[in-house]
Amino acid sequence: MSQPSLTRARAFEQSEDIGRNDTPNPTLGDIIAARLQRRDVLKGALGVAAIAAGLAPLAIAAAGSARANATRFAFSEVEAGVDPRHHVAEGYDADVLIRWGDPVLPGAPAFDPQHQSAAAQKLQFGYNNDYLGYLPMRGAANPSRHGLLVVNHEYTNEELMFPGLGRQDTKTAAFGKMTREIADIEMAAHGGSVLEVRRDNGKWSVVPNSQFARRIDASTPMRIGGPAAGHERMKTAADPSGREVTGMLNNCAGGITPWGTWLTCEENFHGYFSGKVPDDHREARNHKRYGVGGNWFIWSKWHDRFDVAKEPNEANRFGWVVEIDPFDPSSTPVKRTALGRTKHEGAYVHVNKDGRIVVYSGDDERFDYVYKFVSNRRFDPASPAANRDLLDDGILYVARYDADGTGEWLPLVHGQGPLTEGNGFASQADVLIETRIAADFLKATRMDRPEDVKVNPATQSVYVMLTNNSRRKADQVDAANPRPDNRFGHIIEMIPPGGDHASSQFRWEILVRCGDPAIAEVGATFHASTTRNGWFGMPDNCAIDHQGRLWVATDGNSGSRTGRTDGVWALETDGPMRGASKLFFRCPAGAELCGPMFTPDDETLFVAIQHPGESDDDPKAEPATFENPSTRWPDFKDGMPPRPSVVAITRKGGGRIGS
Ligand code: FEO
Ligand code: CA
Ligand code: CA
Ligand code: CA
Repeated sequence: MSQPSLTRARAFEQSEDIGRNDTPNPTLGDIIAARLQRRDVLKGALGVAAIAAGLAPLAIAAAGSARANATRFAFSEVEAGVDPRHHVAEGYDADVLIRWGDPVLPGAPAFDPQHQSAAAQKLQFGYNNDYLGYLPMRGAANPSRHGLLVVNHEYTNEELMFPGLGRQDTKTAAFGKMTREIADIEMAAHGGSVLEVRRDNGKWSVVPNSQFARRIDASTPMRIGGPAAGHERMKTAADPSGREVTGMLNNCAGGITPWGTWLTCEENFHGYFSGKVPDDHREARNHKRYGVGGNWFIWSKWHDRFDVAKEPNEANRFGWVVEIDPFDPSSTPVKRTALGRTKHEGAYVHVNKDGRIVVYSGDDERFDYVYKFVSNRRFDPASPAANRDLLDDGILYVARYDADGTGEWLPLVHGQGPLTEGNGFASQADVLIETRIAADFLKATRMDRPEDVKVNPATQSVYVMLTNNSRRKADQVDAANPRPDNRFGHIIEMIPPGGDHASSQFRWEILVRCGDPAIAEVGATFHASTTRNGWFGMPDNCAIDHQGRLWVATDGNSGSRTGRTDGVWALETDGPMRGASKLFFRCPAGAELCGPMFTPDDETLFVAIQHPGESDDDPKAEPATFENPSTRWPDFKDGMPPRPSVVAITRKGGGRIGS
């Protein structure tokens, strides 16, 4: 964290092992990274042949058989690389829909980066758009051309947002230039946005002054629902009821329910808290396991609740899945504690064949777990009121992946197995507040940073994006996390028996190990037809279109790490082409690709471009700042900083994406 050129996103990644904190072990990965950077491998005879053929070496051996099989994705691949702009496959438009600072609510002033205020930001589109959810407008003539777009605003990059500020954190600057107004702007730039969007004459736009428009931020009043609501450990000086909380934090990915609500997931909430409780304090074990007191922001200087020495329970009120009704702007968001308290990446909602609701979620930290929640009651499409609190009542499970390709969902139920008072769990509320510790007791499988977990409704397979884990050592590998120093991540496919997602059993296999197939040490397993553009590292979010095809979005590719920006890759999951990957869209420099979401007709793919303009991870790269970003996307105007934005991708002349 002390290197000035370390990007904020990378610093976040490096902090993500606080809870477990294994010692650094950069040996093999450093070799790979160095080789990747120098491209030595491409100088070898095999490499030259690979360049000539546009194929990875592994592809050459099997190219004959690969050509015999057709891809399900009909588009011309984008060339991988790094530059200040975004690129989409030929024949497509990728248009900016809304940027950080654009108006959301009536009365929003025009964006003026030199004169920002918390009051303006509360009316404007927030920073670092992450999850995107599309909900068709009720009664719309065409549900794929008129709807609500819900957007998470995960965190802020102060060094890119504010002129003259530079990076502010504990180690490099001791937050020396931070002011209350900047902190309050940051708080207002977090949270989420609800936008009414329409596609007219082929182009999308945000409906101005919509009755549905809403900004949610770190100060929005929320309710706590489920078994932890009202528990002693949820009470604070400001909320003696333990049922009302102010705001949501670090909302990463999310989900949409079949009853038309938005699930938005609190991920790295620990970074917003400062201070420490004594070692013998009731919350000491809890705070340690979650890394609370992460000190990534200095909001505690002006807001006591973020100092755990003053308010030890406040952190227990974050790390939840929040449910919001976007069709009712006056509705109070609800934190659904039955779904557990983790660093939730997302929350994918599936209606099981028996009508129960299953919610899959990854806990994104090195060596943390994959979870699912199964509701006790059934979804009733005819009765919206009956579904309203479905997510307050059910069983949370954590996954164990066994070496024989089977696995088990272990229930996190108070009183069962080791989840007893003797181990610190006096109630189900304790189990949920300390979900991670309960899962430790159940001996769940420690994974390589679980991000999105999503169901393919066409096959019932569940895809788990495991983004990377450079801290896994050779003696810590297991069948489901088979690579030490896993720099590039992998994707696991889970198969529920008979398509029953409520079952406690599953089978699983690895769909693909990511990274450059041309570097043998990486051990990547893309299909042989995958070109030098087609492979990727660091899978993070994903989307499954309405034809059952998988699209993978990445976080962490860069010039120095993989010779490419992040983007969207189309990945074959079934048949002889399984593991074949093609690049469809790539980000501008420094950005991560979040939130891929198709409209019901598959004619539009919305994507969120997060933290554009960050510097490369190469220590020689210039540090990115407001004055010196790696791109000024999307405006490319002097004095205008890069702006996280939502992009709508459509086919020129119409038609389904990739068909
Ligand atoms: Fe916010 Fe796991 O990415
Ligand atoms: Ca990220
Ligand atoms: Ca993510
Ligand atoms: Ca990520």
